[in-house]
Amino acid sequence: MELPYSEACERNREPILAVLLDAFAGCREVLEIGSGTGQHAVYFGRQLPHLRWQTSDLLANLPALAARLAAEGAGRFPPPLALDVHDDPWSTSRVDGIFSANTLHIIARPAVEAFFRGTGQLLVPGGTLVVYGPFRYRGSYTSASNQTFDEWLHQRDPESGIRDFEWVNELASVRGLRLIEDRQMPANNQALVWRRDATAAGISR
Ligand SMILES: C[S@@+](CC[C@H](N)C(=O)[O-])C[C@H]1O[C@@H](n2cnc3c(N)ncnc32)[C@H](O)[C@@H]1O
Repeated sequence: MELPYSEACERNREPILAVLLDAFAGCREVLEIGSGTGQHAVYFGRQLPHLRWQTSDLLANLPALAARLAAEGAGRFPPPLALDVHDDPWSTSRVDGIFSANTLHIIARPAVEAFFRGTGQLLVPGGTLVVYGPFRYRGSYTSASNQTFDEWLHQRDPESGIRDFEWVNELASVRGLRLIEDRQMPANNQALVWRRDATAAGISR
């Protein structure tokens, strides 16, 4: 099977790793949402060997993802999980880390809400969520190229689009997630890091 390949993953993996080295330093089990080609998983799994890295994606994407892990995963990865963010609940055990790259502008707004609902259910108190991708701030794009990208996204799928940081952070906050870092990344992307309040156990639904 020819493995799907993302050039962007090769470009952004090192800057993202720099964030994850800190953010996931104290974690043991990370669930990745929307693993796509599996290139990030293979790289981060190798660079962060203290983690059990659980990949996931929509069922239709699992054969290619599994093939990547089999070819390049060095036996390090559990089988990928079929996970649609709309699933309620997400059918996997609780984790202390969740990672997702380039998903929130692809999925529709109700799916973004479901993403944070699921995260709130699955992330243990004290756990860490890292989201990578483009965002808008106070209604403005961080670059002209992001605006062009957003217009392209809308034409392709009117439900998709670059999300407002303030809206996403409010969804996180409702689930007991406190923003601890917003790092500017190359190519006008952000890495957002939230920590789940240690007292958040009762407000996950
Ligand atoms: C732009 S790709 C990003 C893939 C990878 N994380 C990366 O950075 O290259 C978006 C991913 O989100 C996944 N996705 C789309 N809708 C989803 C949903 N409802 N639940 C979970 N994943 C979804 C897609 O299958 C795809 O793998």
